[in-house]
Amino acid sequence: MKALNTVNFGLIGAGAIAWSAAEAINKHANARVRAISDPNLDRARALAAARDIPAVSASAEELLADRGLDAVYIATPNKFHAPLARLALAAGKHVILEKPFAMNYAEARQVTDLAAKKGLAFTVGMNQRFNADSQRVRALVEKNFFGEIYHAKAYWRRRAGIPRLGTWFGNKALAGAGSLYDIGVHMLDLCLHVIGNFDPVSVSGQTYTKFGNRGLGEGGWGNSERGDIKFDVDDFATALIRFRNGATVTLDTSWACHQADGNRDNVEINGTEAGATVRPARVYRYGKNPLTSYEVIDVDKGPLALPHQCRFHNFINHLRGKEALLVTVPQALTVQKILDAIARSSKTGREVRL
Ligand SMILES: NC(=O)c1ccc[n+]([C@@H]2O[C@H](COP(=O)([O-])OP(=O)(O)OC[C@H]3O[C@@H](n4cnc5c(N)ncnc54)[C@H](O)[C@@H]3O)[C@@H](O)[C@H]2O)c1
Repeated sequence: MKALNTVNFGLIGAGAIAWSAAEAINKHANARVRAISDPNLDRARALAAARDIPAVSASAEELLADRGLDAVYIATPNKFHAPLARLALAAGKHVILEKPFAMNYAEARQVTDLAAKKGLAFTVGMNQRFNADSQRVRALVEKNFFGEIYHAKAYWRRRAGIPRLGTWFGNKALAGAGSLYDIGVHMLDLCLHVIGNFDPVSVSGQTYTKFGNRGLGEGGWGNSERGDIKFDVDDFATALIRFRNGATVTLDTSWACHQADGNRDNVEINGTEAGATVRPARVYRYGKNPLTSYEVIDVDKGPLALPHQCRFHNFINHLRGKEALLVTVPQALTVQKILDAIARSSKTGREVRL
């Protein structure tokens, strides 16, 4: 791959998340958003005006025909992620894709095979990996601070956090899954990244639809127009994942459930020498005398491996030949494989061997 000096971006999708994406890309001294496409032209025009984006179109095909664009960011309803990523790669563009990667592993694999064939960069923009707390705990794992990590607990549980009822988010045909693809995927990916274990062997999971189908549990996120789109995705899911080295991870995700607090999200790590939470980055271990003392240490100082803390800057720096991608293709495919397995396990009531 030839290193670029400046990176000209196109955005596909002008929804809620595209606003912060355009801002983050334009903050990089060597990148600029040059074009945006969305079938909802009003939305595309509003974002273009606010972020000084010169070209606006209603179709991804029109945007991708622009030879001046080096890379695209795709942020559409989940169903269009993999097809649009393939379209962009076929047009010779590097791709940073929103989560979740795809509707299933087979689709995801078609994307990564094409990226490899075309010699283009591809990543899924898992933003949670980049924040300072995540980087600090990951750095300690790299130094083997925790000894053997035998268990981790990943969860993102909201009491009432369904993105607007009546939008594509709650519809299986458009979203693929509900809380699992919206917030569960973040904590699953973050957990595997922080503990450095992408070698799962089996998955047992269950998904539930208990609130959204009754018109309950709506949260604040989402710009999309409310329609009469049926809510038929999970608003709660749980899973146990076993890894080749004997470690286990539990995942809990909820858009809506009865619990004491409005939101709870974290990754908790159990190692033989120490434990940790990621939010905030905090370490737990025996003091000098293990029988009488115990230490709780905030990990909030020192330099970061990626000081920009930004998925877009990582991608841009990668295209400029200056940084490795933090979210690699094999990792993104493994996360998708686990998500597929949770759905299959829930359907069959059995553990899925990978
Ligand atoms: N990383 C994060 O933290 C994070 C946060 C929110 C959303 N997301 C992801 O971003 C994506 C978009 O979410 P959102 O909240 O912005 O949704 P949204 O509903 O606000 O916006 C989606 C936009 O996509 C447009 N669209 C539909 N089909 C299109 C096509 N073929 N080409 C171009 N545009 C098309 C719609 O018109 C709409 O404007 C989702 O995949 C979601 O999972 C990620």
